[in-house]
Amino acid sequence: MENLSRRKALSLGVALGLVGVANPVQAWASTGSGTGSAAGTGPEWIWDDAADPLMVSMLEKGHVPAINTAWASWVNNNDPLPGGLPAEFTAYLRQVNRLPSWADPAKLDRAADFNRRRDTYLFMLYGLGSGIMSTVIPREAKSVYWSAGGADMQDRAAKTFTFGYDLSELGAFKPTGQFVVTANKTRVVHAAVRHLLPQSPHWRAVADETVPISAADILVTFHSLGTYVHRKLLDWRIPYPAADQEAFLHSWQVAVHLLGVPYEHIPRTWAEAERQSAQVLTPILAPSTEGIKLAEELLGLTAQIDLGVTRGFLNEFVRYVLSDEVGDWLGLRRDYASAALVRTAWPAYVLFREGLSPVMPGTFYMFDQFVRALAMLFLNKGSSGTTTPITIPTGNRAA
Ligand code: HEM
Repeated sequence: MENLSRRKALSLGVALGLVGVANPVQAWASTGSGTGSAAGTGPEWIWDDAADPLMVSMLEKGHVPAINTAWASWVNNNDPLPGGLPAEFTAYLRQVNRLPSWADPAKLDRAADFNRRRDTYLFMLYGLGSGIMSTVIPREAKSVYWSAGGADMQDRAAKTFTFGYDLSELGAFKPTGQFVVTANKTRVVHAAVRHLLPQSPHWRAVADETVPISAADILVTFHSLGTYVHRKLLDWRIPYPAADQEAFLHSWQVAVHLLGVPYEHIPRTWAEAERQSAQVLTPILAPSTEGIKLAEELLGLTAQIDLGVTRGFLNEFVRYVLSDEVGDWLGLRRDYASAALVRTAWPAYVLFREGLSPVMPGTFYMFDQFVRALAMLFLNKGSSGTTTPITIPTGNRAA
């Protein structure tokens, strides 16, 4: 059994470019938590001391609907805190609604510029790579499926796009940007989910944990987003100088911190992030009933938008960026003609687009329409073109 899962981790790791040996204790130790894992104090034992008790109190006192109404107009980082919030909630926001002291404005500016220059690849990799990968991270798939938002994936996907969009926006971290507010709203939503999901008999029946969304889980999700995209950009030989790499990492370090993960557990370098990802993400990827349904819904939604490609092409593109193993787990129907096209023409498209090859592939315009349509999907924040408000749930998915 052990050999089998080790082999699985290695073959998937090769496909995702994140190879490692499963030993989570060591992985978290390398983030600076020392013997934390063994002693029960590593990031898998950390949730959110500041937001969690507050949200228990807000939910139990019935304040959440009023908070959702009051914070709808709170959008920009420099907006004053909204009126009409319970005093405790305002006091909490006053403490957390700022960049950490170690945030480096020059790096954040560079990250914003990098995000703009590379937005098509980023949106595509986040959307089809990380988005579908989240459905084979069993804890994430089960909590997303059984939380209130799981019942309306279109809306949920749009909200998640809001996070990616606000992070990628030029000036996201500046006073006129929106990312600090979006991250703070997300942190509070996660805190509410930690109280609500354990009350769901459906979630309890399938979960392997008693409280969801630990700091370790958030780091796993970060690796499925930032670390994965970083690796793919390198694999695809997209020009990506060291200063861009450092800036991109820094924007994620700040993002993860704003979601409540203590500084000492956030990887300091991409090398450390890749090592940790190989140890804590690759080995846990697996199909689940909930994940299979979520992937089908997400890909069905994407197929509704005219990306200029067929569903078979979409399935094969997901297989290309995530491996056939993941494609098989999710039951993505094969389209061998598209598979051959993606595997040969995509690298040629990237090389031509980046000026690294003078030969324009015959399929250039097809791929170009595809990446532009996906980018527009993000830039329009899902479908409506307006901000999709993040709201705190007050219950779980019924069935
Ligand atoms: C909600 C992003 C980690 C489970 C959200 C929302 C965003 C978000 C933007 C609000 C949108 C919405 O309400 O749907 C992130 C990011 C993460 C992260 C950027 C890490 C870098 C996780 C992890 C889990 C998780 C690790 C579970 C293992 C959920 C659930 C909701 C949620 C269940 C609530 C959905 C609802 O409204 O019912 N997350 N998340 N998230 N997230 Fe996360």
